[in-house]
Amino acid sequence: MTEPAAAPPTAYPKPRTCPHSVDPEYARLRAERPITKVSMLGGNTAWLVTRHDLVRQVLGDTRLSSDRRHPGFPRFTVNQGNILQDLPPSMIGMDPPEHTEARRAVLGEFTVRRIEALRPRIQQIVDDRIDEVLAGPRPAELVAALSLPVPSLVICELLGVPYADHDFFQQRSSRLVHRSTPFDERLRAVRELRSYLDELVAAKERELPDDLLGRQARKQREAGEIDHPGLVSAAFLLLIAGHETTANMISLGVLALLENPEPRAEILADPAKTLPAVEELLRYFSIVEGATSRVATEDVEIGGVLVRAGEGVMALASAANRDPAAFERPDELDINRKARHHVAFGFGPHQCLGQNLARMELQIVFDTLFRRVPDLRLAVPAAEVPVKSEANVFGLYELPVTW
Ligand code: HEM
Repeated sequence: MTEPAAAPPTAYPKPRTCPHSVDPEYARLRAERPITKVSMLGGNTAWLVTRHDLVRQVLGDTRLSSDRRHPGFPRFTVNQGNILQDLPPSMIGMDPPEHTEARRAVLGEFTVRRIEALRPRIQQIVDDRIDEVLAGPRPAELVAALSLPVPSLVICELLGVPYADHDFFQQRSSRLVHRSTPFDERLRAVRELRSYLDELVAAKERELPDDLLGRQARKQREAGEIDHPGLVSAAFLLLIAGHETTANMISLGVLALLENPEPRAEILADPAKTLPAVEELLRYFSIVEGATSRVATEDVEIGGVLVRAGEGVMALASAANRDPAAFERPDELDINRKARHHVAFGFGPHQCLGQNLARMELQIVFDTLFRRVPDLRLAVPAAEVPVKSEANVFGLYELPVTW
């Protein structure tokens, strides 16, 4: 096995300044060195994987660990250190067999059937928010009015977290996904969120209500296996993963459909096209850059390169989802393509647990918004829409619209 010549030292991941494109260097690397060693923003080095088949190989290989506490785990932030130091790992940071068990404990809450049962309530939430937008002043700012509240309300109701506290957890989770947030502030955000959820979970354990956290507490009690810190970590992960990601996909999807009248008209004319459009938008934007990293627990060969035990590997969905070997004309948004094999939700054992929920929320928002507000348009030129260029979850800060 040969190791390709070292890449010029440069920081990864690259900032994203345009919603529609990823850094052109990813395409060059994918063609020339689809697995290559790079230096990270945090100062350490890791292998960057940009080819679709290799990204799936990495994410499917359990010799590559998700344990964030490992010193070789790729660090994405300028501030070194493990901010999750005083929170026990949740499933996203576990390996089998612990991961299998932790995932299985909540899997039943996220099946297609369970999520389908939430459809009427999600529709109601979306309609209520659109009513409010339509009753308010023009222009409206859609991130605050729709993109954030919809997934936040949904995950709050599912978990049994009071939505009245949304400012508190949204502010903290937004600090966590920004690479430039100073270490102390990130640590404070983790600690404040943890102590909030600590109290909330303790109340669930006493009262055993019929919501996700209450049901988990009841199951633990019945099995005689009470794991309070584990439930706090699970709540932490589900609360953050459940709203931050979907909110950004709503904003970006609405932006793309406002800029592209043809796919918007196709969806309006035939709602059966919305789900494939959601799949394509997930591929096209590939918003999650931080989560799909791993560290090798033994020597592993990837794409003809020897990755040594202890080295970090970053499987970049945004690059893999623009791989021409997997998607024809990958830089085009084409809602009629078959995009389901994208890796925007990851791949393998850690593939997104909330994907059915996210798909449904996106489908309902796009269908309902453009049907109810057919003359919706951007209130500023697209180039002026502020993007989260330095966040581990890509998205928009604001989306000013009018109608
Ligand atoms: C895992 C993306 C929405 C909960 C993941 C992973 C990705 C991802 C890429 C894989 C991480 C890895 O390989 O280590 C997204 C995107 C979303 C979304 C793009 C929205 C558009 C959600 C929602 C929830 C959720 C709504 C919860 C209700 C989770 C959980 C995991 C996960 C619990 C960890 C699964 C495991 O480790 O087994 N997500 N996600 N996600 N996601 Fe999502």
